Amino acid sequence: MAVMKIKTHPAKVLKQVASAVKDIGGSTQRLIDDMIETMYEAEGIGLAAPQVGVSKRLIVVDTSVKDNVGGLMVIINPEIVYSEGDILSTEGCLSIPEFSATVERKAMLFVRGVDRDGKPLEIDAARLLARALQHEIDHLNGVLLLDKVNMEDKKQ
Ligand code: NI
Repeated sequence: MAVMKIKTHPAKVLKQVASAVKDIGGSTQRLIDDMIETMYEAEGIGLAAPQVGVSKRLIVVDTSVKDNVGGLMVIINPEIVYSEGDILSTEGCLSIPEFSATVERKAMLFVRGVDRDGKPLEIDAARLLARALQHEIDHLNGVLLLDKVNMEDKKQ
């Protein structure tokens, strides 16, 4: 395993819509291991593949350090199937150092995807996990925390 370099704003890859992962073989498995190590090394609670320069729909999340629930999750091709409620939260992003912002998120989520062995995953998420999943899935769509802030400014 190796710690990867985290891409920071305004890296182009962070603005791209990532493509679906079709092959969960050797190179994807290595990427997953490296992303996990990179996330822990950076003391983050989530990391999306575009943040390490790979435009693929793959995220790793572990909110247990801060929220005492859950644990390490690897989600390939995650999709939000259902969401409910609105909540304001203050977030940071490993790709935007020294920046945090309060943005609106859904309070609860139902997410589907596939785990690293190709098995279907279904996740009911609330609290910090729900926020982390929305934040990381945004990365797969080329959406950064900065864009969320700008969108909310425009709404007012
Ligand atoms: Ni981020």
